[in-house]
Amino acid sequence: MLFAPVSILVSLMCDLAVGHAVHDRLVSNKSDVSNNATYPNYRAAAYFVNWRRADARAVCFCECFTHHRRSVHFPGDSWDEAGSNLYGCLKQLFLLKKVNRKLKVLLSIGGSSYSANFAVPASTDAGRSAFASSAVALVANLGLDGLDINWEYPQNDADAVNMVLLLKALRESLDGYGDSLSTPYRFQLTVASPAGASYYQTLHLADMDPHIDFWNLMAYDYAGGWSSVTANQANLFSSTSDATTTPFNTEDAIGYYIGKGITPNKIVLGMPIYGRSFAATRGLGQPFDGVGRGTWQAGVYDFKALPVSGANESYDNTTGSSYSYDAASKELVSYDNARVAKQKAAFIKRRGLGGAMWWESSADKVGSGSLIHNVVAVLGGAGGSGLEGSPNLLLYPNSSYDNLRSGMPDSGSAAETASSLPCSSGSMDHINRLHHDSFYHYQLSALLTQLFSRH
Ligand SMILES: *[C@@H]1O[C@H](CO)[C@@H](O)[C@H](O)[C@H]1NC(C)=O
Ligand SMILES: *[C@@H]1O[C@H](CO)[C@@H](O)[C@H](O)[C@H]1NC(C)=O
Ligand SMILES: *[C@@H]1O[C@H](CO)[C@@H](O)[C@H](O)[C@H]1NC(C)=O
Ligand SMILES: *[C@@H]1O[C@H](CO)[C@@H](O)[C@H](O)[C@H]1NC(C)=O
Ligand SMILES: *[C@@H]1O[C@H](CO)[C@@H](O)[C@H](O)[C@H]1NC(C)=O
Repeated sequence: MLFAPVSILVSLMCDLAVGHAVHDRLVSNKSDVSNNATYPNYRAAAYFVNWRRADARAVCFCECFTHHRRSVHFPGDSWDEAGSNLYGCLKQLFLLKKVNRKLKVLLSIGGSSYSANFAVPASTDAGRSAFASSAVALVANLGLDGLDINWEYPQNDADAVNMVLLLKALRESLDGYGDSLSTPYRFQLTVASPAGASYYQTLHLADMDPHIDFWNLMAYDYAGGWSSVTANQANLFSSTSDATTTPFNTEDAIGYYIGKGITPNKIVLGMPIYGRSFAATRGLGQPFDGVGRGTWQAGVYDFKALPVSGANESYDNTTGSSYSYDAASKELVSYDNARVAKQKAAFIKRRGLGGAMWWESSADKVGSGSLIHNVVAVLGGAGGSGLEGSPNLLLYPNSSYDNLRSGMPDSGSAAETASSLPCSSGSMDHINRLHHDSFYHYQLSALLTQLFSRH
């Protein structure tokens, strides 16, 4: 009855090990930080995906977590450590947590490929309980700070009721484990939630809300190859001049959530770091035929590949959107450029939202062109002081991995780690590097929050 990816991962977890000494200095405070007008604490959250795009139909999900394979050793990893040890991207994420004590790593479960697996386990007490205990076991075993549930989407009222119950079970399991630690810790529970009316109207938002820390509003994919005319995929507002160019809009979605009693500061505005392509079109709001080549999947470009070479870029501040168009090739790509990203950051502040989220980190540009960098600069202010700052957890006495249980003591010097993984800068290099070495599969993604502020 277990949810597929969870059970896959559980089944691949090997070598149950005996408890080891715990680093008592690596303790964390239980905390529950939320925004208020005087002290906004914006969240900056990015999905880090552990699947690799290029080839693979192969489902070889565990690669980046285990200790067997050459490809998943990073600089600084030992080749001959005794015991059962955690390597790969999960170890690297843990090292990042050590240098950036605000960084929280959540395991995101679900996504479009796996969401069909939610309904059955969510529908019974036994299923929810197995789901919750196995998910929390992953948190405790892999050095994580919480869970993100990405059920796309509950189809009917029974699913919606069951989703509330599933979140309740997860909350209780996370709290139970957090409270059992020598220094209690509050693990985070979040939801990746829809911005399309037919999906969010199905959900029982007010009943879900008490169980979760914040909502990752997936405010993108408003248009794409499935649409009837070219349109914006992530606009803030609807167009007053041509409504066909804005079939959905973020403002309406947020208004609905708030109307259901969700406080704005728990709504984290999701933004795309990719563009959706339309081929053979005369422009925005026009018919099209098929989609462009894309970076790694037809019709979808990484933001770092945009604008497509030679195309013109247009920005519309009345809808909060941008796109590129090439009159010669007739391709239009809808995506957020840096101006849109900054407009969205201003919108987050003006509306008192809880921060920003991105799908997904590897597609960003580096340096001043980075969307994440631009938004965090607006929200975080000087030195990241405007960002939410609750501490992550470094104590995992119940992990089956010897090195994690002892806090990764021999993982190179902190200085070496810090310089090769520049988590204090706005750059996403470190995450990209992790990404490139971490192969495979849909859909287990880590939700990283507070990447950018170490102090
Ligand atoms: C928890 O926070 C309080 C107040 O900031 C601090 O005095 C205390 O040392 C912290 N405890 C731990 C275990 O970090
Ligand atoms: C706002 O947050 C600050 C810092 O956490 C806290 O001291 C203050 O009491 C909070 N104010 C309200 C109204 O919640
Ligand atoms: C859009 O830009 C114009 C010109 O700079 C400005 O007057 C207007 O206030 C902006 N509108 C929005 C919604 O930001
Ligand atoms: C870019 O815009 C200019 C001015 O409208 C136009 O002359 C040119 O053909 C456009 N280029 C492309 C590649 O669409
Ligand atoms: C976690 O490990 C500690 C120390 O080994 C043990 O006392 C505790 O019962 C374990 N907790 C769980 C939930 O397994």
